[in-house]
Amino acid sequence: MSEDLPNPESMESGSTRSEPTMPGPYDWADHYTKGDTPWDLGAAHPDLVARIAAGEFEPPRTGARALVPGCGKGHDALALAQAGWVVVALDYVPEVQTILGAQLAKFGGEVVLGDALEFAPDEPFDLIWEHTFFCAIDPSDRPRYAELIRRVLAPGGQHAAIVFPLDKPEEEGGPPHGFNASTLDDLLGDEFRRLTEEPVGQGVGKRTRPERFSLLERRGG
Ligand SMILES: C[S@@+](CC[C@H](N)C(=O)[O-])C[C@H]1O[C@@H](n2cnc3c(N)ncnc32)[C@H](O)[C@@H]1O
Repeated sequence: MSEDLPNPESMESGSTRSEPTMPGPYDWADHYTKGDTPWDLGAAHPDLVARIAAGEFEPPRTGARALVPGCGKGHDALALAQAGWVVVALDYVPEVQTILGAQLAKFGGEVVLGDALEFAPDEPFDLIWEHTFFCAIDPSDRPRYAELIRRVLAPGGQHAAIVFPLDKPEEEGGPPHGFNASTLDDLLGDEFRRLTEEPVGQGVGKRTRPERFSLLERRGG
């Protein structure tokens, strides 16, 4: 898998859908069952780790909330929890609860299972951390992603993302589906202000496509 994510051929030929309620054409749960999770880094993204160490991800106050949609095994979610955030990690694969739920609970966080794009919390979030969830959803679901962000992020809250894979033509399909920072700008619109768009300081060596760091802030905070 050249892109560290399942390619359409491998997902469609080898899998039987075990979670009929799961949206989307790919059977993510089957990948966990088979231990075939090539996207998993086995640790938090090195750029996130470096930015936390540099103080860039300080929670603005005690109890500040961070959302990690499509969290997978949750290394990034745990890194944010250890940095002081109250983290809610979303995925629709039940195994994620087993892998991550207890660890996150130690820091006051939780795993919520279900379609992340339908998530409707009681309280808003101060931070959304996006890493290989946006590229995992079908491009036709991108407007729903934008709706999610608008629904859950507080005014003044930030949307931080590893933008990957860059420079992948749409016709090559996915997952992972290519995008760039301007895809996020266009989706989220004027309600958001761009703070940063830069190369990752520390990338993932095995990735064959470039990745960048994107930071947007919701206006009105
Ligand atoms: C490529 S993996 C990335 C996992 C994690 N972010 C990481 O970087 O290791 C994509 C994850 O998103 C989850 N996922 C995809 N679509 C989803 C949806 N609509 N709702 C919830 N989870 C979803 C999959 O189950 C999978 O765990």
